[in-house]
Amino acid sequence: MAFNFFKKKENKEDKKSKRYKELTVRQVINATADAIVIEFEKPEWELSYTAGQFLTLITDINGESVRRAYSLCTSPLVDEYPAVTVKRVENGKMSNHLNDNLKAGDKIQVLEPMGNFTTTVDANKKRHLIMFAGGSGITPMMGISKSILHAEPDSIISLIYANRNLESVIFKSEFDKLEDEYEGRMHVIHVLDDAPINWQGESGLLNEEMLQKILDRIPNWGNDQTQYLMCGPEGMMKNVEQYLENFGVDKANVFKESFVQGTIDKAEKKTGETAEGQEYEVTILFDGEEYKFPVPSDKSILETALDLDIDLPFSCQSGLCTACRGKLLSGTVRMEEDEGLSDAEKDEGFVLNCVGHPTSADVKIEIG
Ligand code: FES
Repeated sequence: MAFNFFKKKENKEDKKSKRYKELTVRQVINATADAIVIEFEKPEWELSYTAGQFLTLITDINGESVRRAYSLCTSPLVDEYPAVTVKRVENGKMSNHLNDNLKAGDKIQVLEPMGNFTTTVDANKKRHLIMFAGGSGITPMMGISKSILHAEPDSIISLIYANRNLESVIFKSEFDKLEDEYEGRMHVIHVLDDAPINWQGESGLLNEEMLQKILDRIPNWGNDQTQYLMCGPEGMMKNVEQYLENFGVDKANVFKESFVQGTIDKAEKKTGETAEGQEYEVTILFDGEEYKFPVPSDKSILETALDLDIDLPFSCQSGLCTACRGKLLSGTVRMEEDEGLSDAEKDEGFVLNCVGHPTSADVKIEIG
């Protein structure tokens, strides 16, 4: 077992401090009974992000370093302070810790914003964005909506937002305000599983029948001018994806964010892999260094690296956020999950180290 270095331009600590940043909590706002918005002060380092990206928060909980990815709910074009939304997840270490303990003035370690669930905002574009969100999947939609409404005067948004009940709707009043401020350009359709008696919106599950009913009601700008964005629980995403496919929507116009908090905490429920085949040595090229180490069949490449104190980038550890992405230069890798990678990324040979297992002896992966 060995890892070695081929360049010595910067020492390891310098590189590490560049990767890890610190943010100070400006305020913690209760969004619902089980969700908070964490607003951060503007840091001295340059925090640059695009609406729809996520921040990885890292904190120590009972002596264990825990990290989780949370989507930014703000727009850099509109909001002075960046913020993320954190909804409690059953048995979720980080989400419950933050909801219970975080307060203004606290400092928290972060990785710089990442993520591909973004859209290029262009004042000359004229498009209809149809967004499907479920539960805390609303978070990136909030930031993207603000950016589009602010900077694309000819574009419109229809947001279909599904929740269990009225109490679990995040950003209800904020979206009401956006509908007023951008009348005719922002249209929100709430769908509740368990609606109150006097509820005037839609009630029931976001199934094919409901989707048909809603899409019949919203403006039809045609395939060329319509884009579909979705973020929410797996079941909802599958329904919507299937519906759009049946509806003849071109996949190139459908964008999805696969990770929401419920799926992020998969990492905590993981019980280990079934033993499959032998141990293979893997070479990782990262930050000007070369690491070589054997990966046992019951561990992923990332898990093995972390056990060896090799500080590789990661966030969700569930194959969804792509923070651990690397390009496979040689050999073969089996992934337990590749939902986070686009077809183009897969074609280019990218793999996810957090769910990747070497299946040949000559695996070499370049990160960054
Ligand atoms: S750490 Fe998120 S995909 Fe690997």
